[in-house]
Amino acid sequence: MNYKNPDKNGYYGEFGGAFIPEMLYPNVEELQKNYLEIIESEDFQREYQDLLKNYVGRATPLYFAKNLSKKYNTKIYLKREDLNHTGAHKINNALGQVLLAKRLGKSRIIAETGAGQHGVATATACALLNLECIVYMGEIDIQRQAPNVARMKMLGAEVIPSTSGSKTLKDAVNEALRDWINNSTTTHYVIGSVVGPHPFPDLVARFQSIISKEIKEQLYEHIGRENPDFVIACVGGGSNAAGAFYHFVNEKNVQLIAAEAGGFGVDSGKSAATTFLGTLGVLHGSKSLVMQTKDGQVIEPHSISAGLDYPGIGPFHAHLYKEKRTEFFSINDDEALKSAFELTKLEGIIPALESAHALAVLDKKKFNENDIIVICLSGRGDKDMETYLKNLQ
Ligand SMILES: Cc1ncc(COP(=O)(O)O)c(C=O)c1O
Repeated sequence: MNYKNPDKNGYYGEFGGAFIPEMLYPNVEELQKNYLEIIESEDFQREYQDLLKNYVGRATPLYFAKNLSKKYNTKIYLKREDLNHTGAHKINNALGQVLLAKRLGKSRIIAETGAGQHGVATATACALLNLECIVYMGEIDIQRQAPNVARMKMLGAEVIPSTSGSKTLKDAVNEALRDWINNSTTTHYVIGSVVGPHPFPDLVARFQSIISKEIKEQLYEHIGRENPDFVIACVGGGSNAAGAFYHFVNEKNVQLIAAEAGGFGVDSGKSAATTFLGTLGVLHGSKSLVMQTKDGQVIEPHSISAGLDYPGIGPFHAHLYKEKRTEFFSINDDEALKSAFELTKLEGIIPALESAHALAVLDKKKFNENDIIVICLSGRGDKDMETYLKNLQ
């Protein structure tokens, strides 16, 4: 079974596709026709790989977390995406897409952002490559991720608040899609996760796949084998998880674990755990699992972490869930906070709240002493300091 790539229409099993208004057809078709040829070309790869190495600071370390391993009596490695320039995995995709947009002749970039990490990464790539940048962000997220809003502004981006719905990530995507419809010839929409119409889920997964490529090489250097027993990552739309899983997804002996945001609890009415609460539906241009009412109205999600506060999940992950290839855990706000403080105290690393959801799986599942576990530490916690200080443990 090949789980890695979608079929020619962008389907992973029954999930995916491109459900878009007619006005977007030319743009999405242009992307569908050209993305693989461009991103696989020698010229593109030369520029992209050079920037990943010398600008982003890749490869990021694969760090053996001795103290955390001791506490859980197993062997835990952290893939340090938090050490990337701009503080998260998002830059891998943002840089790739902005380079692609330039080759497509676009002069204007739009993006949505939840935690602000994707917005900062896109604003950074636009500053570097001299393109206009507009970032849509929910009003609630603008408040809870203020440091990232300041960074985007300093980088020259215009941050436009989304005031509809729950005023979070879903609403920012809606506004960005609306903008794209109105400005389709000049503009590229840099989607920040493995969501959206085909080819975005595949495009973003390919740009993030550097994470598992490096894990393989680095684990071999550490222990003489490429494959861990488990890979764990948090899932909002699912881009860091797609990147961390990509080169392992067809390797049967590697178990994949995804951590979703349980919010106040799956049954509390305030949650973002899509695989527990979602049903088949269409959201933001693709068919996937969606938190929705019986008549198809999207249910407003909740998570303490802005980056996981999303009522859907990318089609790649919906398929892995359906096929039981990935085990999903729902991590509540308080459990994520506890794990963030634990990592800080044990290893001196302050994780992003999103990444803390992946760490919290250690409290939910029993691992053996000799298991090799890789956890994707998707970002750093600077942006979450206000929330952490309010919840000091
Ligand atoms: C640090 C960090 N991790 C994870 C996520 C969730 O996104 P994704 O599921 O696409 O990796 C975000 C989103 O903003 C983030 O900032």
